[in-house]
Amino acid sequence: MDDLKGKVAFVTGGASGIGLAMAEAFAEEGMKVVLADIEAEALKKAEGDLLASGAEVIGVQCDVSDHGSVSAAAERAIEAFGKVHILCNNAGVAPAGPLDETTPEDWKWCLGVNLMGVVHGIQILVPRIKEHGEGGHVVNTASIAGLMALPTVGIYAATKYAVVGISETLRGELLPDGIGVSVLCPSFVKTRLHEGHRNRPSELSVGPEEPNEFMAQMLAVATEPKVIAERVIRGVKRGDLYILPHADAKAGFEARANEILAAFDLD
Ligand SMILES: NC(=O)c1ccc[n+]([C@@H]2O[C@H](COP(=O)([O-])OP(=O)(O)OC[C@H]3O[C@@H](n4cnc5c(N)ncnc54)[C@H](O)[C@@H]3O)[C@@H](O)[C@H]2O)c1
Repeated sequence: MDDLKGKVAFVTGGASGIGLAMAEAFAEEGMKVVLADIEAEALKKAEGDLLASGAEVIGVQCDVSDHGSVSAAAERAIEAFGKVHILCNNAGVAPAGPLDETTPEDWKWCLGVNLMGVVHGIQILVPRIKEHGEGGHVVNTASIAGLMALPTVGIYAATKYAVVGISETLRGELLPDGIGVSVLCPSFVKTRLHEGHRNRPSELSVGPEEPNEFMAQMLAVATEPKVIAERVIRGVKRGDLYILPHADAKAGFEARANEILAAFDLD
């Protein structure tokens, strides 16, 4: 998709961080933008700021882990702008800790947002993109943790590996419809991901949670979301399957790939 002007983007987790940066970048390209996010206050502010900058935008409160909620947000998007061309399944949360200490609630929350959120976006919006026949693009936000796994990010890695697999599958499925697919796999980005528990539903809560200090420190000095959004725009225009904004993560992936390749030749 090289001409984005006048087209419509639907961005989940669009009220802050990487999602908001993508929404701003799409608006700069002349796109209409739907921000779908669970966090009412941040959503209102993001919508107001974008409107003030002259963008055509609506904010829709939406819980991506809930099929009905995504369906209702999609209806609002179609009512407002008639069509959707670019779907960014970006909302995500990152509980951390050793796998043997994780709780069923941790799994339910993270799988619901990071995995089922992507599934719901695809189930509900891809048919709408196919329907208008003008082509489009799906951007799924995974993570570098979807390409290599490290200790304490087990649940997160499970969801992000799944998002990479889904994206690779979807690319082949949507090719005949002229709909591109990208999977975004950043390393650390300066966002509020370490405070993801701010949106954790009370029924899936396991008591008071502190922001993840290690992650807070890493994110504080990390890449600005705007840089990631620029890479997304380029990836959408070029039709890149993998959007990998952090070249310094290459060695880690290479080590994993080499270990797997070597295992094919073991007796
Ligand atoms: N920040 C990083 O270092 C980093 C690295 C790799 C991947 N990612 C991924 O980027 C994506 C965006 O995260 P971010 O870093 O911008 O963090 P963030 O916390 O700033 O933004 C996440 C957004 O998702 C929204 N959200 C959370 N639960 C939701 C739900 N159930 N329904 C709808 N919206 C919901 C939040 O309100 C928030 O606006 C996530 O998928 C994350 O896993 C982030």
